[in-house]
Amino acid sequence: MSENNKQLQLRDSFGSKFGVIAAAAGSAVGLGNIWKFPYIAGIYGGAAFLFVYLAFIVAIGLPVMLSELIIGRGSRRNAFGAFKVLAPGTPWRYIGILGVSAAFLILSFYGVVAGWSVQYIVLSLENGFSNKTPDEISSLFATLIGSPIKPVLLQLFFMLLTGAIVIIGIKKGIEKYTKILMPVLVVILIFLCIKAVSLEGAKAGLLFLFKPDFSKLTGDGILSALGHAFFTLSLGMGTLITYGSYIKNDNNLVNTVINVTVADTVIAILAGVAIFPAVFAFGIEPSEGPGLIFVTLPNVFHQMPGGYIFSILFFVLLSVAALTSAISILEVVVAYFKEEFNMGRKASTVLATILISILGILCSLSMGVLSPYTFLGLNIFDLMDWISANLLLPIGGLFIALFVGWFLGRKKVKEEVAKGGSLSGIFLSAFLFLVKFIAPIAIAIVMLNKVGLLRF
Ligand code: PHE
Repeated sequence: MSENNKQLQLRDSFGSKFGVIAAAAGSAVGLGNIWKFPYIAGIYGGAAFLFVYLAFIVAIGLPVMLSELIIGRGSRRNAFGAFKVLAPGTPWRYIGILGVSAAFLILSFYGVVAGWSVQYIVLSLENGFSNKTPDEISSLFATLIGSPIKPVLLQLFFMLLTGAIVIIGIKKGIEKYTKILMPVLVVILIFLCIKAVSLEGAKAGLLFLFKPDFSKLTGDGILSALGHAFFTLSLGMGTLITYGSYIKNDNNLVNTVINVTVADTVIAILAGVAIFPAVFAFGIEPSEGPGLIFVTLPNVFHQMPGGYIFSILFFVLLSVAALTSAISILEVVVAYFKEEFNMGRKASTVLATILISILGILCSLSMGVLSPYTFLGLNIFDLMDWISANLLLPIGGLFIALFVGWFLGRKKVKEEVAKGGSLSGIFLSAFLFLVKFIAPIAIAIVMLNKVGLLRF
């Protein structure tokens, strides 16, 4: 029996192909799709942005995702251990450390936003937006995020839920729940889209999103498209190395990558279709990030016929999307603790959940009592976001592409990808060209721009 097959028997793994897609798409589809994508697509010229974003998804997202799965399945280890197995005695393993650190930082602020989303399910159920002026709705949000206790408890509740699924394991925990939650998410989203496009005045919203306006596509917009392609596909920190390590050898990795990428992209576009027509139909100005979801939308819901039920559905959708992504981030840390420190799944999940929650409490408090404490002008919440999204993910992605292109090389890549399907020589060459040259160069450009060393 080969070493890889032996590992397969010892480790937990995904049971079915649909399970792999549900889990990986569950990771990809998250807060990034539902609040970030619609807004940035809107400001950078709608379809013009979409066009560039899709090009990055295909030319960089797809190859980097395939690279992560190759590293994961080829080593059957966590994001750090994978490099120790494939490149023993080399410094490549530090990419894994970067990934595990990014997981810590991302989940700490992600859990806070997810906690707000849970609170908005409760508020929706209580019909809490009715009879409120736009100002009151806006201060409702500001009061919630700035208070010392409530958002912390909500974040802890969300982390507990995430930990409760991860602690069960891959097949019976992560796979089982994402297989239930992802179809729920798709059904709610389609329902919301139908409602949104049938509103009177919906057209303005669809035009905002789909009418290409190349004058708005600035250099910054192009760079945002690349950065967002990474975040939205969960790339650059070993999420898909970790999930890839649980994928069976008869699974076709190329098909998995295509399915997950298409699902993530379609869901991001549908989120835009669900949000903008409703926003425009009620003559409200779209505003950025958390504001769009937690302030603008409640204003829309309370004016909209049937808004009560749509508001509940929307925040359930947002929370489910956040949960399936949070699970994948926590698993990166859990797998690392489990394999590198020889801990059991239970102990590693408890430890990872506690450590990340502590950092999360600081993120939550930085919206209120800890707001005077800043570094580089950013509070703790924004700092976690900035360091992970602007530094750790792009650097991780860059080295992952270089590792597969230059270190693993054609033979190993071919061997791994061909396990679950055939692979034409042209495809292999194109893939290697992308990971050796195109992806690293493009990522380097985006990164240098984000840290301010390169401006265009
Ligand atoms: N892809 C997730 C989203 O769009 C976020 C995420 C980033 C998840 C990195 C895992 C790893 O919200």
